[in-house]
Amino acid sequence: MAFLILAIETSCDDTSVAILCDKVILANVVSSQLDHSQYGGVVPELASRKHLVNLQIVLEQALYQAQISLIDIDAIAFTQGPGLLGSLLVGINYAKGLSIALQKPLIAVNHMEAHILAHWIDYTPELPFLCLTVSGGHTCLTLVQKNPLNHQVIGRTLDDAAGEAFDKIAKLLGLPYPGGPFIDKYAQQGQPIYNFPKPQIPNYDFSFSGFKTYIKNFVNNFSAEQVQQELPNLCCSIQNAIVNILIDKFFKAIQDLKPKSVGIAGGVSANSTLRKKVQELGNTLQIPTYIPKFEYCTDNAAMIGITGYYKLLSQNFGDLGTVPYAR
Ligand code: KG4
Ligand code: ZN
Repeated sequence: MAFLILAIETSCDDTSVAILCDKVILANVVSSQLDHSQYGGVVPELASRKHLVNLQIVLEQALYQAQISLIDIDAIAFTQGPGLLGSLLVGINYAKGLSIALQKPLIAVNHMEAHILAHWIDYTPELPFLCLTVSGGHTCLTLVQKNPLNHQVIGRTLDDAAGEAFDKIAKLLGLPYPGGPFIDKYAQQGQPIYNFPKPQIPNYDFSFSGFKTYIKNFVNNFSAEQVQQELPNLCCSIQNAIVNILIDKFFKAIQDLKPKSVGIAGGVSANSTLRKKVQELGNTLQIPTYIPKFEYCTDNAAMIGITGYYKLLSQNFGDLGTVPYAR
């Protein structure tokens, strides 16, 4: 018997609802809040208020695309955290309301685990699978071992996340929020002519705070006109430096832990240089390498739904007492 799963994602500034029939995505609607751009970053209270307005509209679009009605749903998966507390509360309470009304079980999903499980939408990576998850809030290396839900985090950022570094550096360069895609765009027109020192962090951990301060001081030597003129070369050099920091640790972890397959996940995995270099690394090491489709890189409810599907199979349910975790 096939299960119909409704999935809700509201951890940050994207309101998303997906509908899955087992592993098949029938709908994955994402409404990105553009309002935050003018403030140079996500304003938490504004984000939760927008989720309240958007959620019903996005749900109706998803039901329409999937050509089903709410009463057909077998389970409701939702993001429990980590994320912005107010944003999480909107999605969690919406899911609880649906659960009461439809008398269907709840499935609580960890957002970071879901970024990794996004690979299981289209593929079945061989285990152990080593995943480099790079988003606006997190940067970590995770080993998925005995089954898709068995995760061991082996390294993480000690301060800023990779996406945060992209966004904050983009702001220094006068680019809009979120800056990662803009740096990526300008980088493609430039050359990596500037060299920056690499943070020396032990084990599989990362750090981007010192790197960001270095770039801030470096850019301060340029006039506003020079920054404009040099934008492609600056973006290309910065992007290469961030990607090299990520690739070095990824390479070290692959060499040491010898996983059967590897992949990248999270918003920064949409980055063109990272995708290219990870694929090259996989080819060189002759290891199966999984790069997610663009729609499954940044926040989306399909990844919550696929995680919900595996949790449903293992009878791992949430309940009306489930509370969010912000970190
Ligand atoms: O996974 P995500 O949508 O949200 C979080 O869970 O944080 O990731 C958002 C992050 C932002 O920092 C954004 O700038 C970054 O992903 N991002 C990129 C690219 N596309 C999105 N960073 C670099 N290059 C890109 N092409
Ligand atoms: Zn995310």
